[in-house]
Amino acid sequence: MPEAKPTSRQWRGVLREYAHRLDVTDATPIVTLGEGGTPLIPAPALSHRTGADVYVKFEGMNPTGSFKDRGMTMAVTKAKEHGAQAVICASTGNTSASAAAYATYAGLTAAVLVPDGKIAMGKLAQAIAHGAQLLQVNGNFDDCLDIARELAAHYPVHLVNSVNNDRIEGQKTAAFEVVEVLGDAPDFQFIPVGNAGNYTAYTRGYSEDLAAGNSTKLPRMFGFQASGSAPIVLGHVVKDPDTIASAIRIGNPASWELAIAARELSNGYFGAIDDDKILEAHRILSREVGIFVEPASAISVAGLLERAAAGEIPKGATVVLTVTGHGLKDPHWALRNADGSDVVPTKVSVDPVEIARVLGLTPSS
Ligand code: F0G
Repeated sequence: MPEAKPTSRQWRGVLREYAHRLDVTDATPIVTLGEGGTPLIPAPALSHRTGADVYVKFEGMNPTGSFKDRGMTMAVTKAKEHGAQAVICASTGNTSASAAAYATYAGLTAAVLVPDGKIAMGKLAQAIAHGAQLLQVNGNFDDCLDIARELAAHYPVHLVNSVNNDRIEGQKTAAFEVVEVLGDAPDFQFIPVGNAGNYTAYTRGYSEDLAAGNSTKLPRMFGFQASGSAPIVLGHVVKDPDTIASAIRIGNPASWELAIAARELSNGYFGAIDDDKILEAHRILSREVGIFVEPASAISVAGLLERAAAGEIPKGATVVLTVTGHGLKDPHWALRNADGSDVVPTKVSVDPVEIARVLGLTPSS
């Protein structure tokens, strides 16, 4: 008898995997690139540094390299269901990359508005590769979002920013995945904050799991903004937001009120982190854990280190850090040393002896 083949199946994307928990039926024209099902990676190095039990939810493993795909599958599916011909978004980069890819798959046109010169090269390349109509606006992200909202209100284009509730619905599935893997909600959830859409989405996902009896608690939701663009922390709009973490360079978050409500619900926290601490956390995550993220994502790690140093994280607490975007989107930060100088790779000739010497190897006996 031939040995039975082990059964395996491909992850079907969040709309099919969680159809029973989303507004999706058999008749829904699902647009998916297989997003979700991302790894929740134990991070012993961060557990060792903090005394907590730390896991990293690596959202860079989504099809376009960021968490946006979870929301975009829902938003573009709904756009298609409503007969839209075109979608529009404002973006600091990742939303535009995701909208472009999902719109292409669905046969729709994508128009994307990005702040001129302020988005990472990898993200710009993605949107262009997928054939989006990309316009670089002479303004910041907040200006772009105002225009996208206005165009969607007055022209036949479907808005796929996170002010569209479909985006939040899709993104809440990340919390479902965490609860499934851990068997319960964590004690703390750390997350970067720009428009606060994802902070809102995780809170909704965890709340639904609690209500359904899948978990016993709501995690405390800890959200972090860059110091130069921290409107929620400061309590006022930041006119000219500034940070090296371009993904979260946002001065007037779209989901501000929802985020405040979510913080109150979960006894959560919003904090601000300086750029040098973001880059330090970026190096720690790369070198000590082996996960490569874009700078905005590293703020989750920086936030944990800061809160743990402040004595706010009990020993043994279960902590999930969501890292939102892949490092390959914005790789040049890895080529900078801690002192700001450029990393210069060592050059060698085609000579094993020389290379062994440079590597510090001695011949084995
Ligand atoms: N991390 C990354 C990598 C992001 O791209 C974003 C937002 C966030 C965190 C913050 O998420 O806005 O839900 O609080 N990027 C948007 C964009 C603004 O256009 O790609 P949020």
